[in-house]
Amino acid sequence: MRYKGIIFDLDGVLCCTDQYHYEAWKQIADEISICFDKTINNRLRGISRMDSLDIILEKSEKKYTQEEKEALAEKKNNIYRQLLTRMTPEDVSQDTRDTLNTLRLRGIKLAVGSSSKNTKTILKQVGLEDFFDAVSDGTDITHSKPHPEVFLIAAKRLGLKPPQCLVVEDALAGIEAAGAGGFDSAGIGEAAAHGRVTWRIGEISDLLNLEK
Ligand code: BG6
Ligand code: MG
Repeated sequence: MRYKGIIFDLDGVLCCTDQYHYEAWKQIADEISICFDKTINNRLRGISRMDSLDIILEKSEKKYTQEEKEALAEKKNNIYRQLLTRMTPEDVSQDTRDTLNTLRLRGIKLAVGSSSKNTKTILKQVGLEDFFDAVSDGTDITHSKPHPEVFLIAAKRLGLKPPQCLVVEDALAGIEAAGAGGFDSAGIGEAAAHGRVTWRIGEISDLLNLEK
């Protein structure tokens, strides 16, 4: 493999938290009587909490103040964090664990690059808190994906330059971010269809055979 490092997105790549985000935002949307469904939820992939709220509030006639928005986002996060307590190591598939271990045995450095401020909590829930060589997350950045900041910080923490790293993403915003930062990307799920993606993969273990 030509890459010395791989930076994994967390939500939707290493584990699946989509349903929890959906349930938490749905409770907020219902409380303020705004329509919210899975199609809108899909638009929130890779996007920060506050940017997600702005997308949800596009449907609202009421104009919310910054203070009100922060209160809504905090409320959503409390519901979300309660749901995260249900996560266990079984939320990371055996295929993902085997792939991570094989990549490590091949001498590739491994990092997480996620917009989520709950990254460390999630990694702990699934038993991966001490696994990665570097973690860069929503608490490190001022600009969320599609800005490349989170991946640039991850690469720096690995001691590598962007062209030496591959970014693995399930979100369109994440593929944009990788491209903007000078990284190659592997797209999974919806992100595999992005025109800017370097590799289209069906599952994480496809990373083991990229150049074959
Ligand atoms: C990303 C998710 O990983 O994290 C987004 O794909 C989410 O849907 C974002 O909005 C921020 O998450 P958090 O945990 O900081 O609210
Ligand atoms: Mg994701």
